Amino acid sequence: MPRIYLSPPHMGPHERELLLDAFDSNWVAPLGPHVDAFEREFAAKVGVPHAAALSSGTAALHLALVILGVKPGDEVVTSTLTFAATANAIRYAGAVPVFIDCDEATWNMDPCLLSEELEACARRGKLPAAVVAVDLYGQCADLERISEVCARYDVPLVEDAAEALGATCGGRSAGAYGVMGIFSFNGNKIITTSGGGMLVSQEKGYVERARFLATQARDAAPHYQHSTIGFNYRLSNLLAAVGRGQLRVLESRVERRRAHNAFYRRSLGELPGLTFMPEAQYGRSTFWLTCVQVEERQFGATREDVRVHLDRRDIEARPVWKPMHLQPIFAGCRIRGGAVAARLFDTGLCLPSGSSLTDAQRDFVVHSVRCTPGCVAVT
Ligand SMILES: Cc1ncc(COP(=O)(O)O)c(C=O)c1O
Repeated sequence: MPRIYLSPPHMGPHERELLLDAFDSNWVAPLGPHVDAFEREFAAKVGVPHAAALSSGTAALHLALVILGVKPGDEVVTSTLTFAATANAIRYAGAVPVFIDCDEATWNMDPCLLSEELEACARRGKLPAAVVAVDLYGQCADLERISEVCARYDVPLVEDAAEALGATCGGRSAGAYGVMGIFSFNGNKIITTSGGGMLVSQEKGYVERARFLATQARDAAPHYQHSTIGFNYRLSNLLAAVGRGQLRVLESRVERRRAHNAFYRRSLGELPGLTFMPEAQYGRSTFWLTCVQVEERQFGATREDVRVHLDRRDIEARPVWKPMHLQPIFAGCRIRGGAVAARLFDTGLCLPSGSSLTDAQRDFVVHSVRCTPGCVAVT
């Protein structure tokens, strides 16, 4: 059996056809009809009126912060349990990240801790320039409560929905909360353009600004004239064509990942010491990645034992994100709480969850987890 990857790209005939169309039309630059159509179709899919196609999710986050006027010395509050890109984008804007622990019930930003943090900031007389809420592993943060807290202190909310395209919260799509939402089409995401991202907003002005800044901030003049610092962040027309093909099959990709999650729960759920990332009541997760916690005392082996055992069997599994407050580069940053995320990092494991994972591969993963040396299922 070839190596089983965590979340590999999953291409089909639509993507190939549209990519060849882009190539044959000679629109191979970072502009063209597929970029325009991808933006329209994507915006319709997530139910927001405006979208700008960009070169990555990180670029989209960076632009969102620049557009909000985040500047050196500002603070930006975000979740500690996330991928480094979220915090890196805050640093690109020159701002300082402030981290919030997650809620055990959702693994996402704890709205109570956010409220405490903003209250403390207000008392000190320095509110953050923005809050970036992350939707983790295909599940939305509690965005209703988080937006209420942000509104109370008049702090703009950006939604990092890089991992959550196709998820919902209170009937709204991931990415539709906040003043801007961002998505990633990196190779491991639920749909991919090999690399790419999208910034969405209800505000036309924000999205127009994103397109302007993403194309080197060219003033309206026949020559090249610039009055502000721009970026080279636009998505190629070739990649937008791939994205359009992927968007057409999004629902089936979500269904397949949810089916994997249900299967893993059925097949592993009874093992003592093995628990699954909970699905929050307020929405529908895509289960972009199925994540479990392995408690050594009951399970008989550690998370690392399981991961290494799977790796020896050519199965890629990954520890849950190492929280940002435990990263050497962000060690000096403020953190509210932190013990929940640290515990999830110690015990959390992401299992192969790609939509192209076959039933036979899934069986093999389950069998391999169960025969981890020391596991109660073996002894
Ligand atoms: C939560 C989160 N934010 C941002 C990003 C950055 O997206 P990209 O890789 O497209 O730059 C990723 C993943 O890659 C992510 O998981």
